[in-house]
Amino acid sequence: MNKTTTFRALVVREEGGSFQRAVEERRIADLPPGDVLIRVHFSSLNYKDALSASGNRGVTKKYPHTPGIDAVGVVAASTVPQFTEGDEVVCMCYDLGMNTPGGFGEYIRVPAGWVLPKPEPLSLYEAMQIGTAGFTAAQCVDKLLALGLRPEQGPVLVTGATGGVGSLACALLAKLGFAVTAVTGKESEHDFLRQLGCTAVLNRQQAIGRASAALLRERWAGVVDTVGGEILAGAIKTTQYGGIVTCCGNAASGELPLTVYPFILRGVSLVGIDSAECPLSRREEIWAKLAGPWRTALPDTLKQLSVRIDLDQVSEAVDAMLAGQIRGRIVVDLTGEKV
Ligand SMILES: NC(=O)c1ccc[n+]([C@@H]2O[C@H](COP(=O)([O-])OP(=O)(O)OC[C@H]3O[C@@H](n4cnc5c(N)ncnc54)[C@H](OP(=O)(O)O)[C@@H]3O)[C@@H](O)[C@H]2O)c1
Repeated sequence: MNKTTTFRALVVREEGGSFQRAVEERRIADLPPGDVLIRVHFSSLNYKDALSASGNRGVTKKYPHTPGIDAVGVVAASTVPQFTEGDEVVCMCYDLGMNTPGGFGEYIRVPAGWVLPKPEPLSLYEAMQIGTAGFTAAQCVDKLLALGLRPEQGPVLVTGATGGVGSLACALLAKLGFAVTAVTGKESEHDFLRQLGCTAVLNRQQAIGRASAALLRERWAGVVDTVGGEILAGAIKTTQYGGIVTCCGNAASGELPLTVYPFILRGVSLVGIDSAECPLSRREEIWAKLAGPWRTALPDTLKQLSVRIDLDQVSEAVDAMLAGQIRGRIVVDLTGEKV
């Protein structure tokens, strides 16, 4: 085992009703018990991390806390036979970064049931360019395909399109031959979305349409929604007969102001997507696609839509994410190596 006894981590503390973030020295001995101690090389910033880092009790109940629902790195110590020191591994979601100290620290200690061998031939860095956001985008796309969606059936709408989930969903769907219409609130990013392969871009109001209508003109064969609220309602009202809508996020709202008519008159299907408790066997299936047939679609795109920051820059990135200003993916480098 690595002889290090302390490590650097971003710690969120509650002080007088507000939440402060600082990079601090932590002790490995203070990590919770678990089967596998991992030296984290990279994490990534997801929307849930921004919530945890800003005191959202729906995500994190107890502070001080180190967020980071994603981590890739190398096993430093293991009490179980399936992992040995030096193995490259991925640990995402479950309780990591929620109420278990997460990937914004140089070490995590977790149950073996949360850990997967790094999917070959992805590098640790590539795995975090994808991260939970990309994995979730892949789950949405996989579900649309599994339910029979094909490019010839019509365009697919992606909401929150410049975000982590949205941008990867746009890129993946475009590479798979779908005509992708993006919804974004960022006028300045229309060119970026077209570079990802989107054929059309709508602003949020266009996506909402007439809020009082129960149904609107049929447009989409499929939808990947990351924002919820009126935009998801608008997307469902404009989904074609028999179309499929995946719902994975609430960046705009947890509400869904809708009638039953899209479902009972157009046979639209609304499918929920969760990555947090997604079973390991399903994770392996999705990672195998991301590391296999879908990988050829991704390397250039991943470069285009991700930036690398170090631990000291995470707090600022959290504020930008909460303000809806992030584009694509943010990888957090905990190697301490200069790039
Ligand atoms: N179900 C799961 O397991 C799972 C897994 C991962 C993520 N998620 C959820 O998926 C959502 C997206 O995650 P992410 O990591 O992609 O976050 P993100 O990078 O912050 O992207 C969210 C995007 O949503 C749009 N947006 C933000 N505020 C909005 C508002 N008030 N109204 C309309 N659009 C708004 C913005 O895109 P534009 O500016 O382009 O509109 C923003 O970039 C989050 O709600 C997250 O919690 C769920």
